[in-house]
Amino acid sequence: MAYIPFDLTGKVALVTGGNRGIGYGMAEALAQSGASVAIWGRDAKRNTEAAEELAAHGRTVKAYTVDVADEKAVADAMKQTAADFGRIDTVIANAGVGYGSPSFVDMTTETYRKTLAVNLDGVFFTLREACRHMVERARAGDKSGGSLVGIASLAAIEGAARNEAYAATKGAVISMIKSIAVEHARFGVRANAILPGWIATDMTSAAQNNATFAEKVIPRVPLRRWGEPKDFGGLAVYLASDASSFHTGDLLIIDGGYSIF
Ligand code: NAI
Repeated sequence: MAYIPFDLTGKVALVTGGNRGIGYGMAEALAQSGASVAIWGRDAKRNTEAAEELAAHGRTVKAYTVDVADEKAVADAMKQTAADFGRIDTVIANAGVGYGSPSFVDMTTETYRKTLAVNLDGVFFTLREACRHMVERARAGDKSGGSLVGIASLAAIEGAARNEAYAATKGAVISMIKSIAVEHARFGVRANAILPGWIATDMTSAAQNNATFAEKVIPRVPLRRWGEPKDFGGLAVYLASDASSFHTGDLLIIDGGYSIF
């Protein structure tokens, strides 16, 4: 008999920042595994294009223009998404920004606040609304629970020079995820964090075009390449699936071995 927990037919997954990069890689694998998928992003045009591409896998896909730093927009969009799909089983808080600075002493308060607004406030608003939806469902007798995922970063656990604000938000995401996991286990809601290493997306375009980086950093990745958005598909499917029903409060590192070398 076939092993079927990775079949996501009937499940609904929401990926914030799902219109490109790592979020898109996860959204695509979720759709390919049978889930109905909602993506949130700020760029309406790219949202529409991404939704059309993802729908080519034969599943229902809808895109919503949402700024996750906007508390009311997140609350409204979560209600709308749940109404449109009937339920939400998995929420992946992936939307993020990567503002660095020439040095910590030159890091402006504006950069600090802009980073926190998306990477920390945005994750807080998204996961709080997701929990409200999942707890309400559980209290109404639905025993299927839910899966929450926060996209952190190796910056949370390693020294990320010139990225102190960014690193602080990612460390906070891990702490928030662990707290959510403990508090919501009784509702069947699981929460895990993913820590990507060096992944080739728009966020890292400067590093990808930097010869010194290519010479000094990528050779230190044991698997000897940049990560790609599609490297996150399998983990997204696993965390959205019943295969991970006893897995919560964990940190999952996808970095080609960079952090252990
Ligand atoms: P990306 O820049 O390609 O994609 C970011 C996504 O977030 C886009 O879809 C964008 O529209 C969305 N977004 C940004 N601000 C938003 C807002 N205020 N409201 C709604 N959506 C918003 O970047 P990438 O690399 O795909 O990043 C995804 C996540 O992975 C981020 O949380 C990032 O911090 C994290 N990460 C990325 C790494 C990398 O090497 N690329 C390494 C470690 C973590």
